[in-house]
Amino acid sequence: MPAESADRERAKEHGYDVLAPIDAAYASGEIDSGEWHRRVLAIVEPAYLAGDERMGSGHSGTAQEWERSRSIVMEAIDRDGTFLDVGCANGLLMASVHRWSAERGLRVEPYGVDISAALAELARSRYPRWAQRIWTANAASWRPPMRFDVVRTGLEYVPADRRLAFVQHLVDHVVRPGGRLIIGKTNEDRRAPGEDGTPGVAATVRSWGWPDVREVRRPHDHPEVEQTLAWFDLRS
Ligand SMILES: C[S@@+](CC[C@H](N)C(=O)[O-])C[C@H]1O[C@@H](n2cnc3c(N)ncnc32)[C@H](O)[C@@H]1O
Repeated sequence: MPAESADRERAKEHGYDVLAPIDAAYASGEIDSGEWHRRVLAIVEPAYLAGDERMGSGHSGTAQEWERSRSIVMEAIDRDGTFLDVGCANGLLMASVHRWSAERGLRVEPYGVDISAALAELARSRYPRWAQRIWTANAASWRPPMRFDVVRTGLEYVPADRRLAFVQHLVDHVVRPGGRLIIGKTNEDRRAPGEDGTPGVAATVRSWGWPDVREVRRPHDHPEVEQTLAWFDLRS
């Protein structure tokens, strides 16, 4: 891969070069989805557990960069209610959404689920008052004890050919009727699909049968990459 393409791919997805072989092994049928999750977790979990507060949530920048990067989620939070962070890691996004919402006059109660038992436990220890609301599970098959007003996830939490089923599962079992599913933030190629960019999250989810997906896009430090956030509301 040419160096500038590698830079763009790295800006889109931290760690793509270590995750790519796992995707390739899955795509070739060498490993199943359970092994895909185990191998991804074997890379993600030690890196998050060894890092500082933000790295414990998958972000390698400063506190200011965290705010700039992750606060995009507030573009889709405009109501009081429950908020589930799928892939909550050390809980920093749960706490940030709680704080950012309060600053906007909203009462948002955060919940979390993570496939990593160690990261979920870290989140419980960092936020003891929310300990009962943080679960360990693979969100792709998890049936929570309640449904949530707003659920945030990333499509990259499952193998590529399982993403539609993942969204359908969250719609059927995790988001409450009339609630909202948020996907992102995602770092996306700014190039159009015809120029070799891949279709973005919003276009992909619309093509799966949810036509009313909304999205916001923000500049990324890399000129060919944009941060995106996509969301849609379920029927009541
Ligand atoms: C990049 S971190 C996101 C942390 C935080 N939600 C944020 O946006 O800053 C991704 C987290 O998702 C978790 N994760 C990945 N796949 C998952 C799955 N299928 N079910 C639940 N959690 C998953 C990982 O263990 C990791 O802690």
